[in-house]
Amino acid sequence: MKKILRSLSTFIQGQKDSFKRHNAQYEAPGKFERDRDAGYQNIKDDRINWPDFKIRDLLAQHTNVKTAVDIGSGTGWVSASVHGLVDTVIALEPSAAAIDISKRAYPSETYPHITWHEGFAEDLLPTLRLTGPTIFITGCVLSHLRDKEVEKICAVVNSMAPVGSVFAFSECWSEDTPWHQHMWHVRTKAWWQAQFPGWSLEFGGTKHEQGDYHMGIWGTKL
Ligand SMILES: C[S@@+](CC[C@H](N)C(=O)[O-])C[C@H]1O[C@@H](n2cnc3c(N)ncnc32)[C@H](O)[C@@H]1O
Repeated sequence: MKKILRSLSTFIQGQKDSFKRHNAQYEAPGKFERDRDAGYQNIKDDRINWPDFKIRDLLAQHTNVKTAVDIGSGTGWVSASVHGLVDTVIALEPSAAAIDISKRAYPSETYPHITWHEGFAEDLLPTLRLTGPTIFITGCVLSHLRDKEVEKICAVVNSMAPVGSVFAFSECWSEDTPWHQHMWHVRTKAWWQAQFPGWSLEFGGTKHEQGDYHMGIWGTKL
């Protein structure tokens, strides 16, 4: 019964549900201080190199990657963490409140190479002009979105990424059992591979016992 209700909840998910829910949290009182402090702690803890992300390790292997695109940048700690590891950081986030927090927590005087863009990734990505190998990053963004949006985002990344580009997605995956409920989507390895033809994919990261899924997918465009 629980399983049926869970899978039915998928059908009521709208395109903007993740944005709306997160935006309401970003607009709440005290959010700036909380996310600024949590973000600074993540940077101190080198959270971008935890097993679900391994961004620092990936960049050390791909030294020709000079641009980072942070898809669904939230309140900015991932973009701030990769600032200095690449020449240019492009942060994409639909919540104006989250971008406001990001800009205040990581001001341009200290983080001159980040540009913050307000909008949905599926709309903004096609407008970017990338000139060389790029790292695409998502931190728990695609797992909240419906297949429709994720397919669009992956298709644009796939077509726009110059050869030698990589991605680091801290997103859910499972061996062969998909799991969909409202704002939580676990897709199979085969599903992810189908979105990225011509890319070499690696699945790893953290295993979550409850629900039997992992977080951490990496790709290289061959
Ligand atoms: C769980 S938060 C993660 C934020 C950040 N990546 C982090 O790790 O702290 C998910 C973010 O995805 C954003 N989002 C929702 N729909 C999106 C879309 N279509 N394109 C880009 N970002 C989106 C939300 O506004 C939210 O900030």
